[in-house]
Amino acid sequence: MVMANSLKFVTVACCLFVVLLMAYPVESAKRYLFKTCEQSSFCRRNREYADLAQSKGAAWDSPYAIDSSTVQFDGGVLQGTILKSILDSKGDPTNVELPFQLVFLESGTARFMVDEKQRTDSPISGFPESITQRRYNEASKWAVTGDLTPDDNAIDATTDNERKDGVYKIKFGPDRYFEAVVESKPLRVAFYRDGEPQVILNDRGLINMDHWRAKPDPSQINDDPSLKNELDIKDMWEESFGGSTDTKPKGPESIALDVTFPGYEHVFGIPEHADKFSLRETRGGEGNHNEPYRLFNVDIFEYEVNSPMAMYGAIPFMQAQKKKSSVGIFWANGADTWIDIVKSKPNEQSFGVKKSTETHWISESGIIDMYVMLGPDPTSVYHQYGLLTGFTALPPIYAVGYHQCRWNYNSEDDVAEVDANFDKYEIPYDAIWLDIEYTENKKYFTWLKSMFPTPEKMMQNLDKRKRKLVVIIDPHIKKEAGYKTYETLSKGELAIKTSEGQEYNGWCWPGESAWIDTFNPKAADFWKDQYKPGKFCGYENNFLMWNDMNEPSVFNGPEVSAPRDALHYGNWEHRDVHNIYGATYHNATQQAMLARNPRQRPFVLTRSFFAGSQRYGAVWTGDNAASWDYLKIVTPMLLSHSIAGFSFVGADVGGFFGNPTPELLTRWYQAGAFYPFFRGHAHIESKRREPWLAGEPYTSLIRNAIRLRYQLLPSVYTAFHRASFDGVPIVRPMFLLAPENEEAFEIDDQFFFGETGLLVKPIVEEGARSTEIYIPDDELYYDYFDETIYEGIGYKHLDAPFEKIPILARGGHIIVRRDRYRRSATLMSHDPLTLVIHLDRSGNAGGVFYMDDGETMAYNRGAFLHRFFMFNAQDNILRSRSMQPSGASSRSYEKTIDEVRIEKIILVGFNTDKLKSARTVEAFQDKKSWSADIHVAETSDGKVSVVTVRDPKVLVIGDWSIQF
Ligand SMILES: *[C@@H]1O[C@H](CO)[C@@H](O)[C@H](O)[C@H]1NC(C)=O
Repeated sequence: MVMANSLKFVTVACCLFVVLLMAYPVESAKRYLFKTCEQSSFCRRNREYADLAQSKGAAWDSPYAIDSSTVQFDGGVLQGTILKSILDSKGDPTNVELPFQLVFLESGTARFMVDEKQRTDSPISGFPESITQRRYNEASKWAVTGDLTPDDNAIDATTDNERKDGVYKIKFGPDRYFEAVVESKPLRVAFYRDGEPQVILNDRGLINMDHWRAKPDPSQINDDPSLKNELDIKDMWEESFGGSTDTKPKGPESIALDVTFPGYEHVFGIPEHADKFSLRETRGGEGNHNEPYRLFNVDIFEYEVNSPMAMYGAIPFMQAQKKKSSVGIFWANGADTWIDIVKSKPNEQSFGVKKSTETHWISESGIIDMYVMLGPDPTSVYHQYGLLTGFTALPPIYAVGYHQCRWNYNSEDDVAEVDANFDKYEIPYDAIWLDIEYTENKKYFTWLKSMFPTPEKMMQNLDKRKRKLVVIIDPHIKKEAGYKTYETLSKGELAIKTSEGQEYNGWCWPGESAWIDTFNPKAADFWKDQYKPGKFCGYENNFLMWNDMNEPSVFNGPEVSAPRDALHYGNWEHRDVHNIYGATYHNATQQAMLARNPRQRPFVLTRSFFAGSQRYGAVWTGDNAASWDYLKIVTPMLLSHSIAGFSFVGADVGGFFGNPTPELLTRWYQAGAFYPFFRGHAHIESKRREPWLAGEPYTSLIRNAIRLRYQLLPSVYTAFHRASFDGVPIVRPMFLLAPENEEAFEIDDQFFFGETGLLVKPIVEEGARSTEIYIPDDELYYDYFDETIYEGIGYKHLDAPFEKIPILARGGHIIVRRDRYRRSATLMSHDPLTLVIHLDRSGNAGGVFYMDDGETMAYNRGAFLHRFFMFNAQDNILRSRSMQPSGASSRSYEKTIDEVRIEKIILVGFNTDKLKSARTVEAFQDKKSWSADIHVAETSDGKVSVVTVRDPKVLVIGDWSIQF
C-alpha cells in the first residue's frame, strides 16, 4: 500500500525534479549559480577600495570626515554631518552630506547610523517616480523590537581642548561604565570598557557610501571626461549575472564600514554558513577563505561544507571573544552583504601582544546602522542582543520533542501506519510532517483529495495520542485561474511586483507562481484569512506549520531568487529587503496561527531567517546530505545560530539527500537528541528510513537516543524558558562556562547543553568507538552513563562504543528528568520527576526547573512553576525553593499539578562517610516529615558514590527539603 503510493508520487515529483536536475546539474554545489565577490560589482569595488587603503598605509587619506562645526550632543545622542569629498561634474571639489547619529540606548547598547541627506526637493534625475526616493532605512524596523529610546544619563565628558580638535567623549551604559570616543578626522569611533578599546569603527578608514548621482548621459561623455570614468566602472549602472540583468534604477548605492576588535583573536556568528564556529580569515592564506563570508538568503541546494558561501538565512550579528571579555555588533541591513575578516599579527598593532580581528562589512544598499554591545561577558552580550531583536519564543512543549518528517508521507494510510509503528516499536514522537505532495498540484491550502480525503479525521486520530500534524506552506502561490488563493492575492495586488509594477511571476514547485509580499500589512491579513478555523484545516488545533523556500527560492530567478529590482510594499526594491523577506513570511505565518487560536502557542519552522526571527519559531539548516561531513558540520552551525540569538535550531537527522548507512543514521540520532529542534527528514528519492527500518541493533540504539531526549525534556524546556527571557542559548560554546580558557574558544565539535551542565560530544566519524573530549575548566566531570570521574583541563579519552553517546556531566548542576516512557511529550506532563545531582568540587550543586502547561499563553499571566533546587555541602540538605512571585494565577496552575511528585533523586559524588550507617533520609514538606529509603552504590573504580533516594514523595509544588 505504502509502496504503491510512494511509487506514484516518486513519478510525479521525480519529473519535476529531473527538470530541475537538467537545469542545474548536480555537482557537489552549484557554485556557478551564485556570485563571487568578484562577480558582484559593489563587493569588488569595496574590496579594491580596502586594498588601496591598505597599500597606502598611514598615508591613506579617506574622503570621509566629520564636519566638527555640526556636532552636537543632547539627550543621549551625538549627531552631526560627515562630509564625503568628491569631484563634481566639472571636476571641482565638492561635498556630499552624510548626517550621522551616535545614539546611546538605555540598554547600554550604542547605535551608529549614517544616512545620506535626503533630497526631497530635487529627486535625482533618472530615478523612476515609482521607487522610494530614500535610502532604505527600515531594516531595524523589522529586526528590532527593543526600546530605542536614547539614554538621558549618557554624559558628555569632552574637554575643551578635545572639542577644539574635533574629538568627543561620551560616557554611557550602566554606571557610565562605557565610553565612546569619536574623532572627526580621520573619522574614527572607538568604544571603551575597562579603560581599553573594545570595538573601533572605521579604524582602517574603509567607510564608504556610494552617494546617489544621476546616471551620466553617454552622449555627453565627449564633453565631460569625468563622466567617462563613472560609466567605465564596470557594472555600476547595470549588472548581469547568469542570464539576468539587474536594471539598478538608483545606480550604485553600496555602503561599507570596517570594525576592529583590538586584542580579540576570535570572532563568531554571522550565520548562516556551513563552516567552523570561530570564523576564518577571508583574504587567503592556509586554512583561510579567499572569499568574504556572504549573507544573502538563497536556496543553496546541496551546500558545500567549510565554505563562506551564502545560505538560507542571514543574521548580521558578530561576537568577539577574548580572555574574560566579550563584545558584539549587529549590522542592521537586509541587503546582500559581504564580510571580510583578517587578523593582524601580534606586533602589528599597538594593542599589546595579542592579535586583533579586523572586519569589513559591505552591503549593497541601505544606511549604515551598526549596534555595538560591550558585554562584558558572553551572557551579557546575548542579553543585550536579545533586548534589541527579541528573545526566543517559548515553544509549546511538544515542539521540543521528536519530529518525524519525509518528503513525503503520501496518504492518510501512510501517516496512520508510520504513527502506529512508533507505538509498536515504543519510540516516542510528537509530530508527523507532510511535505509539498499533500497538496493538489502544489496549491497551498488545498489537499490532494485522492490521498488525503479526510484530513480532519487524520488529525483527530493523531490527537488521541496528543500528536500533531505539521504541513508545509510556502510563499509561492500557483498562478492558476480558478485557484482562489491566487486570485485573491493577485486581485488585491498583494504579491511582489516587477520593476515595472506588474505582478512578478517566476517558477517554483507549482510551476508559474506569484510570491506573497509579506511586507504589506494587507498581505499579512490575507494570510490570516487563509488559516481561519473552518477553512483549510477545519477546526483542528493539533496542526503546526512549516515554511520553506522563503528566501525566496525562485527556480528561474537570478541566484535562484527574486530579481533585485523587483518591488515590495512601500516601493522598496527587493535588493533592499532581500534578507528580511523570509522573516516577514515566517512572522505572517506565526501571526496567522495566533489569530486562528489566540490561546495556543504556535509552532512554525522556517528555512529562511533574519535577525529577530527567533521571535517566530524554529529554524533548520536546510538541505544537507547523508554523509559524515554533514553530520560533523552541524555542531559548529548550531553554535553559530545559537550565539546569534537563534536558539531553536536543528539539522535534518539522517541527512536530507541520499541514503545514510545504518551507522550514520544511528550516530545522527544520538547527536540529534541534543539538537534544540530534533527532526528526522529525507528527500523524496531516498529510501524510507523510519527508525524501525534500520533493524537491530540500530533500531534499539535510535530508540534509546530518542528516549533519552524525552527523559531530558523537563531540562530542555527549562533551557528554552531561559532563552526566552535572557537570551542564553541552549547549545552553548565552551567559552560560556570557561571564559578564561582561550584554548577552548575554537573548540566546536562539542557543546554544553542547556542548564544541565551536560558536555556533549557527538560522534561524527565512521567506525569511531572512542573519542577525545575536552574539559575546559577545573570542575569535576562525571561520565553521564557510568559516573566515572574526569578532571583537569585538557583532552580526555572516552570510550564511545556504538551504543554510547559521549556525555560528561559537569559537577554543580542538577538535571531534571521524566523517566517513564510515554508516546508523546504532552502525555508526560503530569509524570513524576527524577533529579540527577552531580556535586562539584566543594560538594554543592544547584539547578533551575521551569514548567507550565506546555501549550497555552497562560504562562504570560503567571501560570507556571519556577523552582530552584540546591544541595548544600554544609548541612547535607537538598532544598527546593520558589523563583516566582506567588500570585493567584500561579496558584490556580499549581492546583492542576498538585500530584506531580519527585519519584527519585540520584546524588552523584556524595561523601558517603557522612551517611554513617543510615539507610534512610528525612524529607520535610508542609510542616510534615517522613523518611525515605536510600540505596548506595559505587562506580566500578570505587572512586564515586551514587546515592539514590527512592520515592521521597516530595511534591514539586511548594518548598521542601531532604536531609541526608
Ligand atoms: C509581524 O506581524 C505583525 C502583525 O501583523 C506586524 O505588526 C509586524 O510588523 C511583523 N513583523 C515582521 C518582522 O514581519
